[in-house]
Amino acid sequence: MEERVEMKEIKVGLLGCGVVGTGVVRLLRENSSIIEEKLGARLVLKSVAVRDTGKDRGVDLDPGMLTDDFRQVIADPDISIVIELIGGCATAREYVLKAIENGKHVVTANKALLAVHGRELYEAAARSGVEIRYEAAVAGGIPVLSAIKGNMAANRFGSVLGILNGTCNYILTRMTEEGADFAAALGRAQELGYAEADPTFDVEGIDTAHKLSILISLCFGTWVAFRDIHVEGISSLTALDVNFAGRLGYRIKLLAIGKRDGDGVEARVHPAMVPLTDPLAAISGVFNAVRLTGNYVGTVMFCGRGAGMEPTASAVVGDLMAIARNMLVGVGRRTAPLGFLDENIIDVPIKPMAETVCKYYLRFSVVDRPGILAKIAGALGENGISINSALQTARSGSEAVPLVIVTHEAREMDVGRALEKIGTLEITTENPRLVRIVDEL
Ligand SMILES: NC(=O)c1ccc[n+]([C@@H]2O[C@H](COP(=O)([O-])OP(=O)(O)OC[C@H]3O[C@@H](n4cnc5c(N)ncnc54)[C@H](OP(=O)(O)O)[C@@H]3O)[C@@H](O)[C@H]2O)c1
Repeated sequence: MEERVEMKEIKVGLLGCGVVGTGVVRLLRENSSIIEEKLGARLVLKSVAVRDTGKDRGVDLDPGMLTDDFRQVIADPDISIVIELIGGCATAREYVLKAIENGKHVVTANKALLAVHGRELYEAAARSGVEIRYEAAVAGGIPVLSAIKGNMAANRFGSVLGILNGTCNYILTRMTEEGADFAAALGRAQELGYAEADPTFDVEGIDTAHKLSILISLCFGTWVAFRDIHVEGISSLTALDVNFAGRLGYRIKLLAIGKRDGDGVEARVHPAMVPLTDPLAAISGVFNAVRLTGNYVGTVMFCGRGAGMEPTASAVVGDLMAIARNMLVGVGRRTAPLGFLDENIIDVPIKPMAETVCKYYLRFSVVDRPGILAKIAGALGENGISINSALQTARSGSEAVPLVIVTHEAREMDVGRALEKIGTLEITTENPRLVRIVDEL
């Protein structure tokens, strides 16, 4: 008679069941057989904690499984892995720390939590001997963190560059392809559910900076103080600058840039013009991309869906399976949370933005008089900035006309000084627009 072997079960608790949580519930159900075939064990979702247990979540959840008592899930001795999908910092931090203290492994998609409290959480996980995994926190469904910690781990990374926010990339794509202004493109993104009612975190670059701080820690083995990252969003970009970018052979993207620089790192988020020939220029709509340069692998680029229910759930459940695999063979923490051994992670200074060197696109609104270009060129030259090209559109009959200048490489501080000087010359009718050009990373 054939003997029936019971499949091992690993019990999981879920905190938060919104967009991503619902995706996780569905994925665990719909792909249960493929997960079991690969794992040789069953991942059993035992409890789901939410604020409002009466809300329709579009998935059938056994009423006995749903609770509004988060502490009950975290304390349940049956549960080995807790997934945090609440978002935000304060509550999530409290629950994750408690789960770790109770000996649970943790999976989270919460970049804000990790960017601000990551160090504390990783140290707590080390003390408790549990794993904390967070693939979904950066670039959603793209498995870039696993690649950095895994198969690319032997490299010394020189730079990491990313388009990490689908909302911004969607807005910029519409501005580029349709000539829409920022407000109209944002409105469309909100109608389609790609942007929140309050889009500040996305459009002001904060979400991208949270992700960049995680990428920098993993690539360079450093702690970066989140508040020291230079962050500019896309809300002040105009349709005119997006149009000029195209005419000059560029596309504007919101870039996250991390770069090793001597003993420090560059860590900045800002709109940037990338050449149309650069593969990053072709990343459109809600897609994300991450480009890494390692000293052996060379340059590698990942792209795919950086957010959304299904791609993000894919990354969360991938993490669950990785932890389950370790549990099944009785090992844990084979890879430290940041890839580097905890004792080898150091604090590094972030290079001040004023010291950054790059090429600049500058657009002035100038009064239409002879000699203006010479005055602007003079102020730039006095500050050591040389001009690569200048473009002035034909007279429009209006009082002010746009004058676009593309510089050679210059220091941010010098550009600031030159713009200040130009502001005193009474030849411009509004503040100049500046977009950095990134064509050599
Ligand atoms: N959405 C994405 O595409 C995406 C992509 C990558 C990463 N992430 C990250 O994944 C996490 C979850 O995002 P989401 O889009 O799924 O969020 P969401 O749709 O707003 O869902 C949040 C869930 O957490 C619960 N919750 C919220 N505040 C709470 C509190 N103070 N105490 C207890 N429960 C609370 C909510 O309960 P109720 O349902 O009862 O209100 C809801 O179930 C965030 O960290 C986010 O940054 C999201």
